[in-house]
Amino acid sequence: MARKRVAVLISGRGSNLSSLIEATKNQNYPAEIVLVISNVPDAAGLGIARAADIATAVIDHREFSKDRPAFERALQDVLDKNQIDIVCLAGFMRLLTGNFVKQWEGRMLNIHPALLPAFKGLHTHRRALEAGAKEHGATVHFVAPEMDSGPIVAQEAVEVRDGDTEDSLARRVLAVEHRIYPRALKLLAEGRITPANPGNAVLTEK
Ligand code: GRF
Repeated sequence: MARKRVAVLISGRGSNLSSLIEATKNQNYPAEIVLVISNVPDAAGLGIARAADIATAVIDHREFSKDRPAFERALQDVLDKNQIDIVCLAGFMRLLTGNFVKQWEGRMLNIHPALLPAFKGLHTHRRALEAGAKEHGATVHFVAPEMDSGPIVAQEAVEVRDGDTEDSLARRVLAVEHRIYPRALKLLAEGRITPANPGNAVLTEK
């Protein structure tokens, strides 16, 4: 079966992008990354994509001022031209409109550095520490119109330790992110999960 064509959307560092690139290097992996799009022109992740010989596109949201639909039309245009099957958000820091999200329903994943539904939004590690959470972690989910919602595909917890700082916790959560995102993308690319049935396959697979 042909490998699914994936676009990864980033805004920054690109460590999740890296972990996806690593996974897709295996020819038996059911998806390949054919495009990396950044809304930030100097995002470090663009360098990671170029080093891996993956096509890149910059769609700078500032050029669209507050016109989100126009920004998304530009995004959709590049996705169409590259015949993208699946979109992975990986540290992509723009909110997407309901229209765009609906267009990609069941074909767009996001990674969030918390055990959703806990700690949606920003500064998740700081907030987990402030709340005295005993467990924290990361979640891959289908993207739904409401931010950091949508059916959960994969989730893995880390223990919050005495003396943890935002940085130390972030490091352990990041290791989890890098493990679960390739697993979740594989399930989607194999057609084993849908928004209506996002989890069963994961429960039986470690
Ligand atoms: C990750 O923690 C991701 O979960 C969050 O933003 C961060 C991006 O990191 N949404 P990177 O760019 O993948 O290194």
